[in-house]
Amino acid sequence: MPDFAFASCLPGIESAVKLDVASRRPELKFAYSRPGLLTFKSPRALLPEDPPGSVFARVWGRSVGAASDPAAAAIQLGHVGATRVHVFARDPDAAIDLTPWLSLGPGGPALDGEVVADVIVSPEGPAWLGVHRHEPWRSPHPGGGFPVDVPEDAPSRAYAKIEEAIAWARLPVAEGQRALEIGAAPGGAVLALARRGVAVWGVDTGELAPNVLALPNVTHIAKKVGALRWEEMPGKIDWLLLDVNLAPQVALHEVARLMPRLRDSLRGAVFTLKMNDWAFVAELPRLVERIREMGFRDVRLRHLPSNRREVCAVALM
Ligand SMILES: C[S@@+](CC[C@H](N)C(=O)[O-])C[C@H]1O[C@@H](n2cnc3c(N)ncnc32)[C@H](O)[C@@H]1O
Repeated sequence: MPDFAFASCLPGIESAVKLDVASRRPELKFAYSRPGLLTFKSPRALLPEDPPGSVFARVWGRSVGAASDPAAAAIQLGHVGATRVHVFARDPDAAIDLTPWLSLGPGGPALDGEVVADVIVSPEGPAWLGVHRHEPWRSPHPGGGFPVDVPEDAPSRAYAKIEEAIAWARLPVAEGQRALEIGAAPGGAVLALARRGVAVWGVDTGELAPNVLALPNVTHIAKKVGALRWEEMPGKIDWLLLDVNLAPQVALHEVARLMPRLRDSLRGAVFTLKMNDWAFVAELPRLVERIREMGFRDVRLRHLPSNRREVCAVALM
C-alpha cells in the first residue's frame, strides 16, 4: 500500500534533502514541499521507525497528513499509538503561537523506543502531522532540536555546534580528557570543551578570543594545519575537532596526515564539512569513505540545528 514519509529541515535546504533522499532511498519519490518540510511517496507502507532518508532531515517519519485545527489533528493521530506529541514550527524563526496544539498530548523529550506524533505548525495553512519512533542518533526534542544554553561570553555559534554534536552522538566527553581542534578561532567550541574540564589545543592562524585564551586548560597553536608538525601536537588526544573553511576533501587530507600520531589514543572526532553547493550532497558517501579509511569504525552525518551550509560528521574509533 503506498504511503508517505516526511522530513523537516532548515528552511532553504530542501534541495539538499531531495538530492540526498533520491540517492539514499531511490524508491521514495518527492511529493510536496514547503519551506522546512518535504514529503515523499513510498511504494510500500512505512513504519514510525522508518530510517531517516536524509542526513539533512531534522525529523524524519511517516507522514499522517494535514490538519486544519487541533480537534481534527486529535482524530487523525488517534490511530498512530503515540505516547508523546512534539509540536513545533515549520520555520523555527517564524513567530507562531503553538499553544492551541499543545493540548494534543504530553510533550517533552522522547525516551528511546517511544512513538512520537509530530505536529508541524505553520503561520499559513493547516498543520502537518507525522509520526516517528525515537531511537539513539535521533533528537529526543520537538523539531529535532538539541537545546543548548550558549553563554554570553561564547565567541561563536560553534559553542552550540559542538554541544549539539555531543548531545546527538551521546559522546562520552569527560573532565580530564584532551582535545585538539583544527580551525579553532575565535574559540566557541574550545570554550565549550574547556568548560567541561577538557584540556584543549586549538590550531588556527586566527586569534582566540581573550576570555578563551585566558583559560588555564586552553593552548593556542598559531599555525595553519598544513604547517603543523607532529612534535608540536600534544600526545594522547581523546577528541579531534575539525572546523576549517576549506573544501572538505582538502580539510580531510590534512587530518589524514595527522592520524598516525593521533590514532592510538583517539576516541572520536567531530568534523564540520563545509557545503559550497548542492553538488556536495553527491560527495557525501565518498567523504564518509575517506573518514573510514583514516581508521574510524563508525561515521554518522547530520545537519545539526546550528549548521547552516555545512554538515556535522561524528566519527568513532
Ligand atoms: C568556522 S571558523 C572556526 C570556528 C571555531 N571552531 C570556533 O569554535 O569558534 C573557521 C576557522 O578555520 C580557520 N582556518 C582556515 N584554514 C585553516 C588552515 N589551513 N589551518 C588552520 N585553520 C584554518 C580560519 O582561520 C577560521 O578561524
